[in-house]
Amino acid sequence: MSGTVIANHGESGRSGHHRAVIGTEPVIEVRGLCKAFGNRVLLDHAQLQVFPGETVAIIGASGSGKSVFLKLLVGLLEPDEGEVLYKGKRVADLDRAGLDKLHREVGYVFQADAMFDSMTVLDNVGYALREHTKMSDEEIRERAAECIVRVGLKLEDLDKFPASLSGGMRKRAALARAIAIKPEIILYDEPTQGLDPQNITRIAEMIEELQTELPCTSVVVTHDMRTAFGVSNRIAMLHEARFAYIGTPEALMFSEDRPVREFIDEAMEEIRELFDAGTLGGANPIDTT
Ligand SMILES: Nc1ncnc2c1ncn2[C@@H]1O[C@H](COP(=O)(O)OP(=O)(O)O)[C@@H](O)[C@H]1O
Ligand SMILES: [Mg+2]
Repeated sequence: MSGTVIANHGESGRSGHHRAVIGTEPVIEVRGLCKAFGNRVLLDHAQLQVFPGETVAIIGASGSGKSVFLKLLVGLLEPDEGEVLYKGKRVADLDRAGLDKLHREVGYVFQADAMFDSMTVLDNVGYALREHTKMSDEEIRERAAECIVRVGLKLEDLDKFPASLSGGMRKRAALARAIAIKPEIILYDEPTQGLDPQNITRIAEMIEELQTELPCTSVVVTHDMRTAFGVSNRIAMLHEARFAYIGTPEALMFSEDRPVREFIDEAMEEIRELFDAGTLGGANPIDTT
């Protein structure tokens, strides 16, 4: 295929399988997206394309509109202007059946986990299956059990209530809920927020593994650079209502663009630790000694 670019984030390290084909039709396409709350402009004609099989990390300062962007992607918020397309179809044009189909194909891991506290882990994880499929209670329990074990929880956790889970367990349960529908696309909002370094690494690895297991296409909103670099083929940085940078994690390191530079310099220490730990393949571009 001419004009095809392989976006490959490192052949070494644990990212060896991590490749996506760019040059095909994007799975998700955002065109001229605008969103403001009052006079606070969060998105001003933002553009982004996400290609089959890749993981795009969205970084940016706190309050820059990352969560709002993700909500616009799934139609939880309506854009003021512009459009979101899945596999070439405008979300705004989808009828009831089309939206249902979309919700069966897109898994969403909410920033605050958004578990129903009055429901058990089983009912939380099985929620989308009950809403969007004709699976029996037995089948739902089986599938939920499969997902729970996959994310590192125990079968006995199925009958617990979210309030009795630790932060790391809640994140895992939220992940299990998102993968229960065997999604083609997973949108993650701060999947590692509030976790200790060990759990951050484990969840990041899990996101990577799911990418090939399912397989799926992912967008990961995170303010954590370890997560962004650990999971993504490409990084998009939201700054002043637009994506100021879209490209590989490696090229991001060399960006001369001032706002990008400032953001990176601030995160430099975190990234240096990542290279030193061997999480990233290749030579450490920021090691000048
Ligand atoms: N539904 C809403 N109504 C009004 N303001 C909102 C709404 N959702 C988010 N905001 C505001 O938009 C800004 C960006 O929010 P958010 O997308 O959550 O930032 P981020 O995820 O990048 O930290 C914040 O100032 C927030 O208060
Ligand atoms: Mg957010």
